[in-house]
Amino acid sequence: MKVLVIGPGGREHAIVRSLLADPNVSEVHAAPGNAGIGKLVPTHAIDANDPGAVAALAKRLTVDLVVVGPEAPLAAGVSDAVRAAGIPVFGPSQAAAQLEASKAFAKEIMAEAGVPTAMARVASNAEEAADALDVFGAPYVVKDDGLAAGKGVVVTKNRDEALAHAQHCFDAGGTVVIEEFLDGPEVSVFVLSDGRNTVALSPAQDFKRIFDNDEGPNTGGMGAYTPLEWAPEGLVQEVIDRVAQPTVNQMAHRGTPFVGVLFVGLALTSRGTRVIEFNVRFGDPETQAVLARLKTPLGGLLMAAAKGELDKAEPLRWSKETAVAVVIAAENYPGTPRTGDRIRGLKKAESLEGVHIIHAGTSFDDEGRVVSAGGRVLAVVALGTDLVEARERAYDGVELVQLDGGQFRTDIGRKAARGEIKVLGHKAAATKAKA
Ligand code: AMP
Ligand code: GLY
Repeated sequence: MKVLVIGPGGREHAIVRSLLADPNVSEVHAAPGNAGIGKLVPTHAIDANDPGAVAALAKRLTVDLVVVGPEAPLAAGVSDAVRAAGIPVFGPSQAAAQLEASKAFAKEIMAEAGVPTAMARVASNAEEAADALDVFGAPYVVKDDGLAAGKGVVVTKNRDEALAHAQHCFDAGGTVVIEEFLDGPEVSVFVLSDGRNTVALSPAQDFKRIFDNDEGPNTGGMGAYTPLEWAPEGLVQEVIDRVAQPTVNQMAHRGTPFVGVLFVGLALTSRGTRVIEFNVRFGDPETQAVLARLKTPLGGLLMAAAKGELDKAEPLRWSKETAVAVVIAAENYPGTPRTGDRIRGLKKAESLEGVHIIHAGTSFDDEGRVVSAGGRVLAVVALGTDLVEARERAYDGVELVQLDGGQFRTDIGRKAARGEIKVLGHKAAATKAKA
């Protein structure tokens, strides 16, 4: 099987790495890729958000499957163009990608499908925003309705700050979704769908804020670990039964079947499981950790989803080890990142037991050396027999990587390793099945 992977980031590097480990995958290409991907497979410098360009490349390479990584090409209709060219594609249509591209649409589908989520109101001017804030009270949650790379959400106890963010979105011609605050730990569950059937991957936890102890602004994600020893029994089955399958059914019912990965962002609140958000693609950096543990060959699995044959796929097999991914970001991220800095120590870090490096914002300079080229630069991923060992290995790797101005969190997986995560009054046992 020949596969083309679309996207430039760490998630795509992790996908390429796993595809190369699938004995039935004979060739992998990537577009546009990054320096780490370029070391593994041929890369093609096309505009990944241009449906025509991606479909033309897929045809020229005569690939059997296209895997679309990020949300932007999905929202732009890349999957539709590839599918129209007769090539199987893992990634939802433009219509189905609205589950991520519009938070208001996602709320509508959740309401229709009876999916538990935060109460919310859509506001399109200052007066509506103020009303909605006062209905739900503090802490306030204000979300830009459109795609914002995880940075369009403000959670604050300060009403003026909440109003200012809403106004900022209105000034840009947008609308906002204002919702009730959800307490409790957050979990990411990736659910593969072929339009009808669903298969969940092992849950992971992401670290969204830039600084330790969840301080500072939101980012795309600064680290992740999996599996979650502390997650309530039956959580995965609950996500399938109450969230993913009803959503997939509803999308099919509307005539816009969802093919790809439904990323369910959950809060395990004191009142039960609630969906915080849907994304229509793998999470980054959760994927770096999740795929490190997946033993089932990835190419076959994604092809089964693309072809509507997930019901025939074998049950997933997982490594017993724990995986931790620690992101190293450039100076000033999540603002405008400093780029063009040399990155040293990658080989040394990779020589550590259980450790590998996944590139995100990297490229080659004129002399062919790896330099920073984006906000999140790379992730150090480590497997260990448990979370304590995986963390130690990951952070030993981080210490060896040198990047001027590089920032990373020192607390990825720390609370869980110390047994400090509490799920209050949670009854995932509603469906009685095991995670
Ligand atoms: P989103 O882009 O919807 O994933 O939001 C980004 C982050 O904002 C989430 O991962 C949460 O940490 C936080 N957040 C979003 N919605 C809520 C909510 N209703 N209550 C509490 N925190 C939230
Ligand atoms: N790590 C969260 C995301 O990919 O949106």
